[in-house]
This record gives sequence, C-alpha cells and structure tokens, in this order.
Amino acid sequence: MSQEKVLLWDPLVRIFHWSIAGVFVANYWFNEAGEKWHEWLGYLAVAFLIVRFVWGFVGQGAARWSDFFPTYTRLKQHGSALIHRKPYHRLGHSPIGALVMILMMLLILVIGVSGIMMEEIDYFWGEDWVQDLHSWSADALLMLVGVHILAALFESYRLKENLPLSMITGKRNRVD
Ligand code: HEM
Ligand code: HEM
Repeated sequence: MSQEKVLLWDPLVRIFHWSIAGVFVANYWFNEAGEKWHEWLGYLAVAFLIVRFVWGFVGQGAARWSDFFPTYTRLKQHGSALIHRKPYHRLGHSPIGALVMILMMLLILVIGVSGIMMEEIDYFWGEDWVQDLHSWSADALLMLVGVHILAALFESYRLKENLPLSMITGKRNRVD
C-alpha cells in the first residue's frame, strides 16, 4: 500500500530554497569573486531572503515562523529525544534543523550586506575587515550547508522518507 502524502512545502518555500542553494553554489565555486554575475546573484539571494522573512508571517502552515521557530522548550524536547534515542517526527522543520536554517539565513544576510558595503558604499571601500567578514561568513555558511545536507540525508534514512525530494515536490508522508 502506498503511503498517503500531504502537501507541506508551498511553492514559495521551495523556490526560495533552491534559489538560495543555487546562488550559494554559483557564488562560492563558479563565478569570479566580485564580478557582475556574483553581485547580482548575491542581491537576488538577499531579495529572496526578505520575501521569505515576510512569508513566515503571511504564509500558511509549515512556512510560518511560529510553526518552527526553535524556542528553548522545542530545542530541549528535540535534543532529549535524540539523546535518549526516542523517535522524533514532525511534519515541518525540526527544532534543531530550524536553528541551523535560521543561522544559514543570517549568514546569507551578513554575506549580502558585507558585499553591498564593499561595492556600493564608498566609506567601506578597500576596508580589509569588510572583505574578511564577507569571506569568513561565506566559509561559515559552507560548513553549515555541509551539516544541513548530512542531517537531511541522515534524517531521510532514519525516517525512511526522501526529504530532499520533499523540498522539490512539496509532499511529505502523512503521520498520524
Ligand atoms: C550569498 C551571496 C554571496 C556569496 C555566497 C559570496 C561569496 C563570496 C566568496 C566565497 C568570495 C571569495 C572570498 C575570498 O576570496 O576570500 C567572494 C568575494 C567577493 N564578493 Fe561575494 N558572495 C555573495 C554575495 C556578494 C554580493 C551581494 C556582493 C556585492 C554586491 C559581493 C561582492 C564580492 C566582492 C567584491 C568580492 C571580492 C572581494 C575581494 O576582493 O576579496 N558578493 N564572495
Ligand atoms: C546549498 C545551499 C543550501 C542552503 C543555503 C539551504 C538552506 C535551507 C533553508 C534556509 C531551509 C529552510 C527553508 C524554508 O523554510 O524556507 C532549508 C530546508 C531544507 N533543505 Fe536546504 N539548503 C541548501 C542545500 C540543500 C540541499 C543540497 C539539500 C538536499 C540534500 C537540502 C535539503 C533541505 C531539506 C530536506 C529541507 C527541509 C528540512 C525539513 O524537512 O525540515 N538543502 N534549506
């Protein structure tokens, strides 16, 4: 019998996800640091970030900040389930997953703002610390992306459900 599916991730969440993932890969590995493509893609990522921020208040269900915001109580519940190897399954971001996601979003903001400071604001032109901030936050993001991808694969194995695919189709297995 096939498992019943529910639509969990709306199109905006999915488009946001793969767009910022694409910008990160393009700007970290593929285009020349600081060339026009790099700048425009970076601005696009910041624009997506702002839209996603607002969507967390006006969107519905699992897209909402209130649905997944990693409060202390939620983090404690999730952490203790992991430590005691108890099953933890929710339709929506897990608290520790959400914490990593929010840190990734903040890093993209820092990378974007430091990029804008380097390129558009004369006052900061040539300042080493702004360039360092830009490249350090890009490296920190790379580390978190690594953790994020490993966690998505590990959780897919544990829950016997293809989570990366759910970020494409929007659908997750129903849990009762
Ligand atoms: C999320 C988006 C972005 C990512 C992941 C990213 C990533 C990077 C990385 C990895 C470098 C190389 C750093 C190094 O060589 O140490 C770099 C350099 C640079 N980026 Fe970005 N960047 C982004 C957005 C932007 C934006 C929005 C701008 C400008 C408006 C920008 C302007 C530059 C410039 C001018 C450099 C060369 C800096 C230098 O001379 O050291 N970047 N970026
Ligand atoms: C490369 C850079 C990436 C970045 C910056 C990134 C960032 C994010 C962010 C911010 C979210 C939250 C989405 C939202 O609520 O709007 C998210 C969710 C998610 N991402 Fe990524 N991601 C990246 C790559 C990937 C890749 C390659 C995969 C697949 C292996 C993946 C799998 C997922 C999954 C499955 C979720 C939903 C998590 C859940 O079920 O709670 N991500 N990601």
